[in-house]
Amino acid sequence: MLELDYTNVLDSAVGSAGIAPSAFQKAADASARAIDALESARASGRLGFADLPFDEKPAKAVTAFARDHAFPNVLVLGIGGSALGPLALDAALARPNTGKRLIVLDNIDPDFIRDTLDTIAPADTIVNVIAKSGVTAETMATFAIVREWMTQALGAAKARDHFVVTTDPEKGDLLNIARQEKYPTFEIPSNVGGRFSVLTPVGTLPAALLGFNVEALMEGARRTAIQSRKSFAENPALVATFIQFVLDREREKNILVLFPYSQSLWKFAFWFKQLWGESTGKKSDRQGHVVNCGQTPTAALGVTDQHSQLQLFIEGPNDKSFLFWAVREFRNSLKIAHPYSSFDSMGYLQGRTVAELFDAERRATEMAITEAGRPNATVYADRIDEESFGDLIMFSQYMTAYAGELYNIDAFDQPGVEYGKKLTFAMMRRTGYEQFNGTIETSRRRERAVVR
Ligand code: PA5
Repeated sequence: MLELDYTNVLDSAVGSAGIAPSAFQKAADASARAIDALESARASGRLGFADLPFDEKPAKAVTAFARDHAFPNVLVLGIGGSALGPLALDAALARPNTGKRLIVLDNIDPDFIRDTLDTIAPADTIVNVIAKSGVTAETMATFAIVREWMTQALGAAKARDHFVVTTDPEKGDLLNIARQEKYPTFEIPSNVGGRFSVLTPVGTLPAALLGFNVEALMEGARRTAIQSRKSFAENPALVATFIQFVLDREREKNILVLFPYSQSLWKFAFWFKQLWGESTGKKSDRQGHVVNCGQTPTAALGVTDQHSQLQLFIEGPNDKSFLFWAVREFRNSLKIAHPYSSFDSMGYLQGRTVAELFDAERRATEMAITEAGRPNATVYADRIDEESFGDLIMFSQYMTAYAGELYNIDAFDQPGVEYGKKLTFAMMRRTGYEQFNGTIETSRRRERAVVR
């Protein structure tokens, strides 16, 4: 189970930048409303992500599909919520020498696409095209390129057997293309938005194709979903949200540094960045008042960023809150044995383990940040495996859903992202988007301020 240690958020640890214990008591009393709100959203089917691990059928379906489609390469075409989940799962759960490789084309830099395709054999590759909307420009363009690449290599008939589509069950061009091409399709339930979709086939199909244990992933997610419905004092996701909300609103900590001490969780931090950033960054509250709220998530990797960003974190502006992600037990401890005991810089390491050093460095960083008066909390995962990763996913998604309640915003929409998509369509002259031509023309005509 996950554990949240928020000692270093308290005012007794970080002074005036911290939160008084009495505030937690008050929050405990007031938080029933937020819990009830999410529970009634769940009961009415509006909190789709929370119910996903309780439905065994989709997990069984992806596992069965993976059994019949054992390819060395899994090539995902998708972006945002349709790519970050598979990337996070792979970074956490892939093990060496399994003969499986995940490749994600989530960017449309043409050199990146060409160079990536040049490193993989079409015959050894299954392509999973993922788009909730079924129309995203980047994914549709990459799909066209990859389809051509596959067809040229294998011929149209064989190429067809190398594609599988994950999309909305009812709408979108990708669904229609999949039907036309007779590609197998997996559903993203209508009540699950892009960045909340990692536990749908968006994440579980690539996971199964890569040989991960999807059932165990769901088991972890299930127990954390149950934990996340409990009262404040037994609900780490809600307490974590309350902390960020107070630090942002009342202590001006409008930057949230996600700081995993785990190489395996580095991509998870990027997944979390999208989840938290797109969900809390909103112009209007639920009543339509302009609030321009949100806490800017950024990521730092322990220990790597101790030698890069930590100086800024400790002595720069006190405008950040820190969320460490720690792992209690690594798969390896790596004993340090060497013949250099007489050298000071090596002697003290003799007989110790790299895991011990890693842990000491994490705690040292926490201490330094705390001493500098910067509030920080730590989420502990027992280990990095499917079950624990399911915990982390569900914890993060509930945390985000609670943010919607505390900030009084819609945590599930993304009007800013949608607007950017519309402008792209208009710029590429897609029919039906002519109303944006004026905006594009105004931008084009603007006198350029350029220096060479
Ligand atoms: O969270 C979201 O909904 C978005 O960020 C989407 O994930 C992203 O825009 C990709 O959308 P789609 O899956 O429709 O291609």
